[in-house]
Amino acid sequence: MESQKEPLSEEALIRDDEVFLRMNLAERLQHILLVISFTTLVLTGLPLLFYELKIFKSIFGSARAFQLRGFLHRAAAVILIVDSLWHVGYVAFTRRGRQNLKDLLPRRKDVRDAVQQFGYNLGLTRFLHRRGIGKKFFARRPFWLFEKEPEYGRYNFIEKLEYLSVVWGSFIMILSGFFMWNLELSLRLFPLWVHDIFVIVHGYEAMLAFLAIIIWHMYNVHLNPEVFPMSKVWLNGKITGRELRTLHPLEYRRILEERRKALEPESPTWS
Ligand code: HEM
Repeated sequence: MESQKEPLSEEALIRDDEVFLRMNLAERLQHILLVISFTTLVLTGLPLLFYELKIFKSIFGSARAFQLRGFLHRAAAVILIVDSLWHVGYVAFTRRGRQNLKDLLPRRKDVRDAVQQFGYNLGLTRFLHRRGIGKKFFARRPFWLFEKEPEYGRYNFIEKLEYLSVVWGSFIMILSGFFMWNLELSLRLFPLWVHDIFVIVHGYEAMLAFLAIIIWHMYNVHLNPEVFPMSKVWLNGKITGRELRTLHPLEYRRILEERRKALEPESPTWS
């Protein structure tokens, strides 16, 4: 008689302390180069915008220090350009790179997730419902109660937005910075007002990028209680089974299903 086997439990298929690779070495090196170049570009670029601040005057007041600032800005720009080209090549020519890009593209679910996460964090509709306000509405549309947080796959909408902002921001900064660096070429190719726009865009995008990183990215990878004091993924590339289950439940379940299927006995073939 055939014995009926119990299906394997989640814990048996993915242990909480099992380690998964989230960022491989190439991805981590690209990120580290981005951290180094971006930090240097901000530190050597913003003093030009805010030259009246005492702190910048005291650091870059002398002609030598000012010259060094310009040199460091250009050296870091070269690192950013090389890093960006590496990343484009990585995405175009490796299977993992292409898969990552596919996973990072925004979908309709991301809009729904953003609304749901915002509504969940705010808790306003749950509060109204508890007070008996809008009972009929919520009975017909329970989604708007935002009772649960959205479930994310490999990348959530915040990570996707951050990635796309870096891609767009780097493109703008490299393009405008290149023509600011090569003033003669810029004036040969475009009228003066185009060059003026490059300078304006470069300055404002620099502030935007700086604020986005300081406020948004630093919160998500440092201050967020899920990862406090710091997510180490950018250093060791690792994520545990438990983190996968709590932070990326859809990806966790995809792996679970793959493993279940791989363990299922093959169905008999009748010839
Ligand atoms: C995302 C990174 C970057 C940030 C945050 C940044 C920031 C800045 C800022 C705030 C300024 C002063 C703008 C002004 O005076 O109105 C500046 C100037 C400049 N930037 Fe950038 N920049 C970045 C990337 C680049 C790149 C990639 C290049 C070159 C390809 C570049 C080349 C220049 C040049 C030539 C100037 C003119 C002033 C100077 O001599 O430094 N920057 N940058």
